[in-house]
Amino acid sequence: MNIHVHSHSIYLCRHGESEHNVQGRIGGDSELSPRGRQFASALREFIEEHKLSDLKVWTSQLRRTIQTAEELGVPYEQWKILNEIDAGVCEEMTYEMIQNTFPEEFALRDQDKYHYRYPGGESYQDLVQRLEPVIMELERQGNVLVICHQAVMRCLLAYFLDKSGDDLPYLKCPLHTVMKLTPVAYGCKVEMFYLNVEAVNTHRDRPLVNSAPLLRRNSYTPLSSHDQVKRPRLYSAGNRPWLPLTPSPTTLHIPDSPDGALLLQQSQVSVRLD
Ligand code: G3H
Repeated sequence: MNIHVHSHSIYLCRHGESEHNVQGRIGGDSELSPRGRQFASALREFIEEHKLSDLKVWTSQLRRTIQTAEELGVPYEQWKILNEIDAGVCEEMTYEMIQNTFPEEFALRDQDKYHYRYPGGESYQDLVQRLEPVIMELERQGNVLVICHQAVMRCLLAYFLDKSGDDLPYLKCPLHTVMKLTPVAYGCKVEMFYLNVEAVNTHRDRPLVNSAPLLRRNSYTPLSSHDQVKRPRLYSAGNRPWLPLTPSPTTLHIPDSPDGALLLQQSQVSVRLD
């Protein structure tokens, strides 16, 4: 980020309060609540006051972020990869419903929230990987406002503030609050702007330490560069690295042999391809 010649800032916020937020439900694709619409208007004033004329605005493809951006009266881009974490079988449930319906899943998530993957959905670790292209693009751009979601905003914030996987899922990203990140010498300066429109609190605190043994760690995302072993180009899983070739007579010149040449069947020869 320090190769930028001109200073620039990244503005992160969540969509305005949604109908699901009011009901305490996670996920889904609900619309803005009346207070969520008020926030969208307040966000428009914020942009005008801060004279962010060259600002790019990005949203997810979910209605609550799009409705927030629509109010701004400026062009915006929709990114599907900015969509909220996929809660799989728990989509559109309240935390209480999840705890009653899937008590084991609920406990597992509390044990290791970063790695826990919802059945049929995603983990925070998955989300971090999904967001990589957005992060790369944010590094290249000037001023950008990203209107996103709680889990997504946590991942973006964690990247720019260098937070650990353990802390990431508990970062506080309240509704109706804009965070301005400005790259400085070795990090980012953070400023928070609460836009003075009330909203529900969707944050669940880190639970008290649970002494029960970890039952399952069900999000394992192999690194793209996982297989570092140098392999022959034609190697694939299931093929042995030592490949017998098809039988056909071949003459091999062996200069030191008494005859200078030796006739061998290729089936007798193993060739190491690497
Ligand atoms: O599931 C949607 C929420 O925005 C993410 O919140 O990870 O704290 O449950 P949570």
